Amino acid sequence: MKTCLVTGGAGFIGSHLVDKLLELGCEVMVVDNLFTGSWENIKHNLKKKGFKFERMSILHNDIKKIFSDADTVFHLAAIPRVQYSMHHPYLTEKINVEGTLNVLEAVRKVDVKKVIFSSSSSVYGNQKSLPLREDMSSSPISHYAVHKLAGEHYMKLYYEVYGLPTIILRYFNVYCPRDDPLIYPHRLIPYSIYLLYNNKQPIIYGDGNQTRDFTYVTDAVNATIHAAISEDRRIYGSPINIGTGIRTSVKKVIKFVQNHLGKTEISPLFKPKLKEPTHTQADIEKAKNLLGWEPKTSLNEGIKSTINWFINDYVKGSGQK
Ligand SMILES: NC(=O)c1ccc[n+]([C@@H]2O[C@H](COP(=O)([O-])OP(=O)(O)OC[C@H]3O[C@@H](n4cnc5c(N)ncnc54)[C@H](O)[C@@H]3O)[C@@H](O)[C@H]2O)c1
Repeated sequence: MKTCLVTGGAGFIGSHLVDKLLELGCEVMVVDNLFTGSWENIKHNLKKKGFKFERMSILHNDIKKIFSDADTVFHLAAIPRVQYSMHHPYLTEKINVEGTLNVLEAVRKVDVKKVIFSSSSSVYGNQKSLPLREDMSSSPISHYAVHKLAGEHYMKLYYEVYGLPTIILRYFNVYCPRDDPLIYPHRLIPYSIYLLYNNKQPIIYGDGNQTRDFTYVTDAVNATIHAAISEDRRIYGSPINIGTGIRTSVKKVIKFVQNHLGKTEISPLFKPKLKEPTHTQADIEKAKNLLGWEPKTSLNEGIKSTINWFINDYVKGSGQK
């Protein structure tokens, strides 16, 4: 892993990954069209040795030329909005599925050693039991989840048919510094912080008893690095859950945020339930065994550091670091 290419590297997770790769001494090329990503997320790397940025869509034909320099490709570019995908099925399908195919076609023709794909827990849909294991059959209930599942199938196909080592990571509700609350108002933690900080009611869709496995971004990034450096061939072509194994209700998360911000007097505003899986909780045995990775950040710590980021970087407009 010397020369890395990160699609979607100006986004929330991608920019943290880029920081980590540069810290490890890799050369890093970011390909991002800044659709939801931001220059703010990566500009601090501009003068660092080995950092390059190309503002380009993954749908563009010229990505083939750029990929020829990379040994490891991290494919994160996507429109990762569940509700938006239901209202814009064609646009999101084009980026999330055709874009992924375009990335795979570009790397197939050059000497890329590994492709790591950011998939999502949303592919599980609603299952009869928890925790969610990789051998359960997927049951998507949104366009976005179908797109991610299609991406997984393409990854598997390119491994089995062309021998391209592909790794599929199913991230579970990743949060938070640099997750812009105004771009993603359905993401619970940043948007609740934003609303409560501004003395507005946090929003709960449904009764708030739905649960999620919330994964702190540095844990997701570390899992991604573990996958990239692993020599274990068993990790190719089939999904690996990246979560904490712990599920927390939406109500409880809002309580944490209220307590940390000292805004317990502002009660939540209840809105109709969204079409989303009711519970997510990752079984992380496969990640532990095959990647030698474990999450390290508790939800409480993660929320605290997100609030610090929000107040010190986001609100003050000093840009993310
Ligand atoms: N955040 C989560 O909880 C979560 C959970 C599961 C999976 N994922 C996956 O992780 C990846 C990163 O998600 P994120 O939360 O950082 O979102 P994000 O929106 O911050 O990042 C996506 C990036 O892709 C870029 N992009 C979009 N269309 C593009 C195109 N046509 N060409 C080039 N770049 C393009 C955006 O500008 C953005 O920088 C996505 O693939 C997402 O599906 C995220």
